[in-house]
Amino acid sequence: MAEREYVLGTGNDELMRLAQQHRLWSDAAVQAWQRAGLAPGQRVLDVGAGPGFASFDLAQMVTSTGAVIAVDESTSFVGYANEQAQLRGQPQLRARVGAATTWRWRRRCAVGATRAVTRT
Ligand SMILES: C[S@@+](CC[C@H](N)C(=O)[O-])C[C@H]1O[C@@H](n2cnc3c(N)ncnc32)[C@H](O)[C@@H]1O
Repeated sequence: MAEREYVLGTGNDELMRLAQQHRLWSDAAVQAWQRAGLAPGQRVLDVGAGPGFASFDLAQMVTSTGAVIAVDESTSFVGYANEQAQLRGQPQLRARVGAATTWRWRRRCAVGATRAVTRT
């Protein structure tokens, strides 16, 4: 699938910006997901997951008994997320190229998580 244009870009600069943003927001996001009841064994859909920084935290929370499906329109971000999931030993995380509005696997997940999707 061709890379679809995203307003903030999908190159290395944006990846670094998202990494920095994640360092600032990660603790608060994890606490919010804990309050929402996210737990081991659950299946989570992360819509607009980008390179997967939030997805890695979600994968840790659901553990290897659960699953995280990360969806993003960017092929390069999805590739990065899958590479990192392998390096981090998180087979419960799978990233897929797709649009939030049309993605067909959303029916297979009980919980939805998203952070800062800026275009629909
Ligand atoms: C600001 S980034 C956030 C990435 C990630 N959620 C995070 O918090 O690090 C927004 C992401 O949403 C994706 N996106 C925007 N509109 C989308 C849509 N309609 N379907 C799927 N992905 C979308 C972009 O490709 C981009 O990677």
